[in-house]
Amino acid sequence: MDETSSYSMYYFTTTTIGIISVVLNLLWVVKDLGGFAWSSKTSQFNWHPFLMLFSFVFIYSQSILVYRTGKRHMSKPNLKYLHAFLHVVSFICAVIGLHAAFESNVKGERENLHSLHSWIGIITVIIFAVQLLCGLSAYLFPVLESNAKALFFPHHVFYGTMAFVLAIITTISGVTEMTMLVPNYSTLPSVAYLINIMGITIVMHGVLTLYLLFKPEFGTLPLANN
Ligand code: HEM
Ligand code: HEM
Repeated sequence: MDETSSYSMYYFTTTTIGIISVVLNLLWVVKDLGGFAWSSKTSQFNWHPFLMLFSFVFIYSQSILVYRTGKRHMSKPNLKYLHAFLHVVSFICAVIGLHAAFESNVKGERENLHSLHSWIGIITVIIFAVQLLCGLSAYLFPVLESNAKALFFPHHVFYGTMAFVLAIITTISGVTEMTMLVPNYSTLPSVAYLINIMGITIVMHGVLTLYLLFKPEFGTLPLANN
């Protein structure tokens, strides 16, 4: 199998698993957590798991793979705009998702940012925000000379990938935190299957994204075109 067909096969599998994780998350929220609304605290909170998974895992994955997925179909500058656009969309959805979690936190019942999940989560969001600012100023509204851009590039890739790994860890820790609220979770009720399978799809989607990102044969076109 040539490199393009191999990439397409892995990319299709990765994206399908990612979509399955988002659909399972939707099913869980709608069937077991009471659905979405902005009026009641619980329904408002439900936007948090959904939007964070959709933006900080699914769209994030699409965005970091865009140079590889689109290299034969789009010019490098257009891929760059798409890469930046997807990250901005992901950041906006994540801000709404975080706002839902903070707003729905009834004062006095629990402290904001008390859990390990929320600490790793907030670190991830900060790294992502800095990465976005650096990406925009280095490559979209360039303030760097091309030498400096080339020197900065490995850092861009490292921190961008690190924040993706952190997003997967945060997501899994958030899901685990929510299982503590599921009645009789330890007796394996049907919702436990739904949550556990969703967790596995999230991890598989993350691992496959990293595989696509680091397999040298799937590499992007030369940096000179940036
Ligand atoms: C990368 C994705 C995520 C990030 C960055 C993130 C970040 C955060 C942050 C910063 C808070 C603190 C809000 C507050 O103190 O009021 C929080 C709360 C919470 N999140 Fe997430 N979250 C993510 C995904 C998820 C997912 C997928 C779930 C569940 C399926 C989840 C479940 C929770 C729960 C139960 C809380 C409330 C308790 C707490 O403060 O830990 N999170 N999240
Ligand atoms: C939080 C936001 C961002 C993250 C997490 C991120 C992450 C990444 C990653 C992981 C790669 C490597 C892709 C590959 O090897 O196929 C990459 C490449 C790149 N990114 Fe970003 N990026 C972000 C924002 C931006 C922004 C806003 C720009 C400006 C347009 C930008 C411009 C670039 C460029 C020019 C490349 C080089 C692609 C190549 O020639 O191979 N990035 N980014």
